[in-house]
Amino acid sequence: MKKLQCIIHAPSKNTLLIKQKVTDALIEKTSNLDISISSPFETNAKDILEADGLLIGTTENLASMAGATKDFFDRTYYDLLGKKEGLPIVIWVRAGHDGTGTVKQLTGIITGLRWKLVQKILVCHGEWSKRFIDECTELGLGLAIGLESNIY
Ligand SMILES: Cc1cc2nc3c(=O)[nH]c(=O)nc-3n(C[C@H](O)[C@H](O)[C@H](O)COP(=O)(O)O)c2cc1C
Repeated sequence: MKKLQCIIHAPSKNTLLIKQKVTDALIEKTSNLDISISSPFETNAKDILEADGLLIGTTENLASMAGATKDFFDRTYYDLLGKKEGLPIVIWVRAGHDGTGTVKQLTGIITGLRWKLVQKILVCHGEWSKRFIDECTELGLGLAIGLESNIY
């Protein structure tokens, strides 16, 4: 069975809601996928080495990806370099004001690791909207269903 690792940083009520709804949808709408949900702080290189697909959900803080998400890459980058080329990945960024710094950083890291962004990075930008929940869910389900049906 393929494994989808979901690394979700959810430091607020709204981002927790996204995390919960995406988790529920992934569990409900898939039947042949091992879905693992973790916070960046508790995710290690081994979790990624064992994964067939990766979802990252992060916030932007201080014009940068959240420190939690950066900590994950700080700890794992060299253990993963050259080991998971082509890993299909989707990313959402919840950015109350901007988002461009995080997109730039993550694009650089993903390019360096030679992972494969299968959808454009989704930026949930500006004032909170319930539509962000649907957009993140659609993004996650797209990857999950692609993995299940061997598109990825
Ligand atoms: C300390 C701090 C710094 C922030 N810096 C940024 C920033 O640089 N760019 C941005 O788009 N949003 C920034 N935000 C807003 C967060 O992205 C937003 O609050 C977070 O994604 C949670 O979303 P929510 O407020 O809808 O729960 C910041 C929030 C905090 C608490």
